[in-house]
Amino acid sequence: MRVLITAGPTYEPLDPVRFIGNRSTGKMGYALAAAFAAAGGHVHLISGPSALPAPAHPAVELTRVETAAEMYTAAAAGASAADVWVFAAAVADYRPAQVAAEKIKKAGETLTLELVKNVDIAATLGQTKRAEQFAVGFALETTNELAHAQDKLRRKNFDLVVLNSLRDAGAGFGHDTNKVSVLDQAGQVVTFELMAKTDLASELVRLVLARRTAFATI
Ligand code: CTP
Repeated sequence: MRVLITAGPTYEPLDPVRFIGNRSTGKMGYALAAAFAAAGGHVHLISGPSALPAPAHPAVELTRVETAAEMYTAAAAGASAADVWVFAAAVADYRPAQVAAEKIKKAGETLTLELVKNVDIAATLGQTKRAEQFAVGFALETTNELAHAQDKLRRKNFDLVVLNSLRDAGAGFGHDTNKVSVLDQAGQVVTFELMAKTDLASELVRLVLARRTAFATI
């Protein structure tokens, strides 16, 4: 089983010293890479800037990127050959329209930035997904969680979507724990208790393997 995983934030440069980014640490994606490798998978982990060390398992190959565009290029190159795609990265939806060649100097009282849309990695690759390939996405929502997550599942052609709610204490960015629900295309919802991201990663791998087997026998 070949597994492609995106993880961490993306950094979108504004000038040589500044960027627009987010608080993702990469913990969930790195834990998933280790868990898939422990389950016998060959993992290509494509990571935005993260302080985490490369997973030690020899079956994990790490590619480090900075921007959404670089993450897309790396993911698109490996997508066709992978059996499972996991989109755990917190990709910046927009980037600065212009990247200044020199440091932007302080001038007026206000500064307006123009942002342009980034490629949606999951949705773009989702359009190329073959019947035997399996895609898992993440959704971080603060309102109407289930409805938004179902919508993402359909729009991005995911087989499973892992829903984090920021309303749950101990869940989400920076924490070592996470509390998620997993939704499938049939509208079935599996809810997990708050647990360590490393334990949750093993549970998610188990779920993906079970679903893929069910899938293959249809
Ligand atoms: N994703 C991606 N590329 C993007 C944005 C998101 O691959 N440019 C993936 C994420 O890795 C995640 C899923 O899509 O698996 C959902 O990301 P999210 O940011 O919640 O969805 P958006 O489509 O950006 O919706 P919104 O920000 O409006 O909630």
